[in-house]
Amino acid sequence: MRIVLVGPPGAGKGTQAAYLARNLSIPHISTGDLFRANISQGTDLGKQARAYMDAGRLVPDEVTIGMARDRMAQPDAAGGFLLDGFPRNVGQAEALDEMLRSESLKLDAVLDLEVPEDEVVKRIAGRRICRNDSAHVFHVTYNPPKAEGVCDACGGELYQRDDDTEETVRTRLEVYHTQTEPIIDYYRAQGLVVTISALGKVTDVTERAMEALEKSDEG
Ligand code: AP5
Repeated sequence: MRIVLVGPPGAGKGTQAAYLARNLSIPHISTGDLFRANISQGTDLGKQARAYMDAGRLVPDEVTIGMARDRMAQPDAAGGFLLDGFPRNVGQAEALDEMLRSESLKLDAVLDLEVPEDEVVKRIAGRRICRNDSAHVFHVTYNPPKAEGVCDACGGELYQRDDDTEETVRTRLEVYHTQTEPIIDYYRAQGLVVTISALGKVTDVTERAMEALEKSDEG
C-alpha cells in the first residue's frame, strides 16, 4: 500500500507510523526524521534545513521534494510506503502525484489523524525521543520509560527536540493550518481521505487506523 499520514504536530503520526508500517510490512518514511538524521550527521542538507526546523517553518520545497524522491526510490519502498510529514503543502502533493504518475503508481489512502489542539500541545510538551532511533518515542506522562531519560528499547539517551518549545509549537500549528490542512481537501477531491480520531490509547488508535485502511482498500 502507498499511504500518506497527515495530522497536526504531536498528533501521534510517528507513533502510529511505527506500528502501521510493521503491520503492513512497508517502510515508514518521515521527512522530519530524514532532516534530523542529516542534521546530526552535519550534512549540507541538514545545515540548510536546521534554521527552518528550529523556527517551526517548512523547509523549502526544492530541498524537501528531492530528499523525499530519493528516499522513495530506495528498493525497500518499491512495494509501498507510509509517508509521515510529506507532503506538507499542495505543491508537495502535486509533486508526489507527478512522481507516482511517472511510474504508473497511485496512492491508496490518506489517513488523517484528528486531535484537539490542547491535546497536541500536551503531547508535544511531554515528548522524549531516543538519540539512537527516532522511532523510539516516549511521553513523560502518557508513555513513560521505565528509567527516566533512558530508552526502554535500546538504552539510548532520551532527549527533547529543539523545535518542541512553546513558541515553535505555536508556529508549527499555524503552519499546519495554513499550509498543510489544504492538502486534505486536495486529496478529498481524489476520494482518498479517511479521517479517524487519534484520541485514546495508542493501541486503540492503531486498531482504528487499521480498520479504516482496510475499509478504504475494500472501497
Ligand atoms: P516532523 O518531524 O514531521 O514533525 P511534526 O509534523 O510537527 O510532527 P511531530 O513529529 O511533532 O508529531 P507526531 O505527529 O509524529 O507525534 P508523535 O508520534 O511524536 O517535522 C518537523 C519539522 O521538519 C517541520 O516543522 C519542518 O520544519 C520540517 N519538515 C518535515 N517534513 C517537511 C516537509 N514535508 N516539508 C517541509 N518541511 C518539513 O507523538 C507526540 C507525543 O505524543 C509523543 O510523546 C507520544 O509518545 C505521545 N502520543 C502519541 N500517541 C499518543 C496517544 N494516543 N495518547 C497519548 N500520547 C500519545
